[in-house]
Amino acid sequence: MSIVDNLFMQMFGRPQGMLGRFGGIIMARMNKEFTYSVIDLLDIQPNDRVLEIGFGSGMGIQRLAKLASTGYIAGIDYSKEMVEQATAMNLKKVEAGLVDLRQGSVESLPFEDNTFNKALAVNSMQVWSDAAKALQEIRRVQKKVEGKIALGFTPYSGQSSHGLIEILTTAGFTEVKLVNLDDGFCLLAIAS
Ligand SMILES: C[S@@+](CC[C@H](N)C(=O)[O-])C[C@H]1O[C@@H](n2cnc3c(N)ncnc32)[C@H](O)[C@@H]1O
Repeated sequence: MSIVDNLFMQMFGRPQGMLGRFGGIIMARMNKEFTYSVIDLLDIQPNDRVLEIGFGSGMGIQRLAKLASTGYIAGIDYSKEMVEQATAMNLKKVEAGLVDLRQGSVESLPFEDNTFNKALAVNSMQVWSDAAKALQEIRRVQKKVEGKIALGFTPYSGQSSHGLIEILTTAGFTEVKLVNLDDGFCLLAIAS
């Protein structure tokens, strides 16, 4: 990995240290509108149980907690710094037990089978070490038939849409469709 790639990974891909904290602040501004558009596609209801993977600064979690006001919002992020930032942003709801933010990896989710009816990740899948395994893990923790997933990407993620429908289908998702948004694209599917 080049020095520049390494710096980008520390700031944005898997935020770490001072650079990572700064990256979190930048992403909170840059990706907010797009994250809200992805959340809109999931049509969040008050009682929904939602998992966000790679929540970064936590602005998506904040929005989800507002929409699923009587539900349950959980998040997992690889970065300790992002868990700290997102916890600070959502402190009251974390303390009240309405928001559950954990440090960990999407490839091994610390949740029971069939826990969530909605799941999303924005600009995160492109840095997962094993996307196929991660998608199977997400499907495992989703309620079958009703479980919806949204995977959003802005151009700066560098993720191409090519092959994503096939990866989701192989992982056991159905009704996979690609939606173009103002600032990127989103894959929607059902956990079957
Ligand atoms: C580019 S940032 C995007 C953050 C936020 N979703 C946004 O759009 O602003 C990618 C996020 O995914 C997290 N991440 C990377 N690999 C992960 C993994 N294997 N499991 C869980 N989170 C991961 C990173 O720590 C980081 O917070």
